Amino acid sequence: MSDEAATPAGPPLRLRPTMLSDLDFVISVENDQRNLPFITPWDRTQHEGAVRIPDFRHFIVEAGVDGSRDGFVILQGCRNPHRSVELKRVVLQSKGRGLGRQCVRMLKRMAFRDLRAHRFWLDVKSLNTRALALYASEGFVEEGRLRESVRISTDLAEGYDSLVVMSLLDREFQARQALGLELDP
Ligand SMILES: CC(C)(COP(=O)(O)OP(=O)(O)OC[C@H]1O[C@@H](n2cnc3c(N)ncnc32)[C@H](O)[C@@H]1OP(=O)(O)O)[C@@H](O)C(=O)NCCC(=O)NCCS
Repeated sequence: MSDEAATPAGPPLRLRPTMLSDLDFVISVENDQRNLPFITPWDRTQHEGAVRIPDFRHFIVEAGVDGSRDGFVILQGCRNPHRSVELKRVVLQSKGRGLGRQCVRMLKRMAFRDLRAHRFWLDVKSLNTRALALYASEGFVEEGRLRESVRISTDLAEGYDSLVVMSLLDREFQARQALGLELDP
């Protein structure tokens, strides 16, 4: 499965299935200091599992004139009997250029149209104001907070952050579609 969206200025952003030969790239993006504070990186075995196990969808995000790799996304729960699909991870190297919004819209279409999800959900660290703003503006509703559930460690401080659980239901997605809010940005 792959999906494509036209960017407002430039070539399409494309999701294509991750190959085992992409995993060095995936791990390097995950461990980039600009991304690490916002995610809990996986080891190679976990990524290999997500590439191979049908309950996951692991994609490389390609963008730019030459279609080069910009990041990756992971969906989990693709075979969930409750039709509850999780946006497990999205990490992009180009920030603030609108690629995140395009990706999230593409993933919503994949979740609701292709995977027939009833609920599309995620969790995000409360310190991740950029991702929180993106998800809220894309219709995700806060369900609650898992208080102080992740450890954070910087040069300056040690402590805990809370995870914000957010979701979008199929009927909410359809209402957004009817309002024209789900077109390619
Ligand atoms: C989070 C991430 C996927 C967002 O992608 P992006 O391409 O940077 O985001 P976009 O350019 O599409 O911006 C989307 C919205 O985020 C918000 N935003 C962007 N930069 C922001 C910032 N510095 N602070 C607060 N909000 C910000 C804005 O609402 C923006 O929409 P607008 O410009 O139309 O108003 C990307 O920055 C990333 O990979 N970050 C590191 C890993 C990560 O945090 N992953 C998510 C874990 S849950």
